[in-house]
Amino acid sequence: MKVGIIGFGSMGKMLAEKFSASGLLDRDSLLLASRSPEKMKDAKKWATLCKSNTELASSSDIVFLCLRPFDLKGVLEEIRGSITEDTLIVSLNGSVSFTNLEKSLSDTSEDVGVTTDTPPSQYKIAKVIPSVTAEVDRSQTLLCYNDHVTSSDKGNLKRLLICMGNVIELPEEELGMGSELVSCMPGFIASVFDVIVKAAKEHTKIPHDQVVRMVLQTMIATGELMLEKSMSFEDVVTRVATPGGITEEGTKVVYEQFPETAQVLFEKTLLKRKLTAEKAQAQFE
Ligand SMILES: NC(=O)c1ccc[n+]([C@@H]2O[C@H](COP(=O)([O-])OP(=O)(O)OC[C@H]3O[C@@H](n4cnc5c(N)ncnc54)[C@H](OP(=O)(O)O)[C@@H]3O)[C@@H](O)[C@H]2O)c1
Repeated sequence: MKVGIIGFGSMGKMLAEKFSASGLLDRDSLLLASRSPEKMKDAKKWATLCKSNTELASSSDIVFLCLRPFDLKGVLEEIRGSITEDTLIVSLNGSVSFTNLEKSLSDTSEDVGVTTDTPPSQYKIAKVIPSVTAEVDRSQTLLCYNDHVTSSDKGNLKRLLICMGNVIELPEEELGMGSELVSCMPGFIASVFDVIVKAAKEHTKIPHDQVVRMVLQTMIATGELMLEKSMSFEDVVTRVATPGGITEEGTKVVYEQFPETAQVLFEKTLLKRKLTAEKAQAQFE
């Protein structure tokens, strides 16, 4: 199986390095193409560098499109004559719908490039959203497919993505909230604990670095405790916050004052997500 990655930016580079380092793909099976080929020069030891997106697309069974939304349409139109109905196209962008991705691949009215004899009537497309925790092989990677993706394609894709952590399948309409929960969540968690650590600093002489490490280790251990012992958040609160005790004073503040902030957070991020999707879709009009 040959896997091609178009776009060697933040995501494309990370996927390529993970697929190679995990031993899943050797140099001949991993193909790369990008707009600025000089950025890929170090990768030629472990991947095959293609001269063009079309060269990559015509030689790959799976093509990952690690592109910003405004570059996506152009590349889809460029490669549509170089793929077959067996090629699995994987978009790393969550905002552009399957409908628009399919439309850019199917619309051959303005085609001037190389075309296959009989262009496919349907395309197999998946969307993949890795999280930043992929850097430590603990991504919660989101995955969704259009109706043409076969179970064999799904298996191949999951076998690749598992090298970065867990894979979570969602329907297209849940990809937005899914992204909030795993892709944005590291930022939400970091900002909440940043606020907590800054508040703690007002009341202690423990050095900042040590405070951060204490909180981080406790945070990781709390998550592991919950997963290992199948505990809910409320279980942990009940376990630690004895009635009338010190912890309960703090958890009461969180339950009284934080719900409104959490609601506003999701209202704002979901609205921003909707506007971003509208802007991305507009590139496809
Ligand atoms: N970053 C994240 O944490 C994250 C997480 C999940 C999903 N995503 C999604 O992943 C996608 C890629 O994001 P990114 O952060 O990797 O973006 P990025 O760092 O800007 O990388 C995009 C890459 O695409 C290349 N490119 C642009 N036009 C091209 C073309 N016509 N042919 C070939 N290559 C082309 C760019 O080349 P140059 O080097 O010349 O600019 C660049 O290397 C986005 O849709 C984003 O929404 C990102």
